[in-house]
Amino acid sequence: MEELEASELGTLQYWENRYKKEIDNFSNHGDMGEIWFGEDIADKVILWMFKNIEKSCSIVDVGCGNGHILIELANEGYVDLTGLDYSEKAVNLAKAIAANKHFQIRYHVCDILKGLEHTYDIIHDKGTYDAISLSENSKESREMYIVSIKQALKPNGNFIITSCNWTHSELQEQYKDFFKLHYIIPTPQFMFGGKIGSVVSICVFKHVNN
Ligand SMILES: C[S@@+](CC[C@H](N)C(=O)[O-])C[C@H]1O[C@@H](n2cnc3c(N)ncnc32)[C@H](O)[C@@H]1O
Repeated sequence: MEELEASELGTLQYWENRYKKEIDNFSNHGDMGEIWFGEDIADKVILWMFKNIEKSCSIVDVGCGNGHILIELANEGYVDLTGLDYSEKAVNLAKAIAANKHFQIRYHVCDILKGLEHTYDIIHDKGTYDAISLSENSKESREMYIVSIKQALKPNGNFIITSCNWTHSELQEQYKDFFKLHYIIPTPQFMFGGKIGSVVSICVFKHVNN
């Protein structure tokens, strides 16, 4: 499979600079910052979780950014919520937003590629695997990411990923030795050159042996 061309979105420096500005925006205007892929896409994930995932499940958002999805899940009554990001500034922003809303969400600085400390029922990723796919050593980094996720997902858990860089079948191909596709959350489709495609893919994976 062809690797994507490396870009600044695959560097920690880019995210640190970006979240520094977003912290200023939040302190000055109360604006929580970008919702990656838009609110409609986030709502689709939240609705699927609301219908399929018990409120007591442990949920981690890898590359949580401002923590938008965790705030929405807290609003829906989920209580065991953790956000991880390798950008300290992202974690500071997410903590400030959660504190402002009086939600108890654990946030930690963590490079996903180095492994997670705990295991979870649900692992959620929106845009993080995409960012990792744009790093310099993307092939190795993608492999390290998959191993980290595999180790951190509880035996019957769900790994939910939203990507704009990879299609459902590309994700399935990349994860096939580790995870099997459990469900595709439908997203708006477009027709181009006689083929139907989606701008954003949302997939739910489970361990291959489940
Ligand atoms: C496109 S943003 C998405 C943020 C958030 N998931 C959302 O949907 O708003 C990608 C995020 O992944 C984080 N990230 C990238 N590589 C990472 C890594 N190796 N470990 C942890 N976080 C990472 C970035 O800091 C950034 O917050």
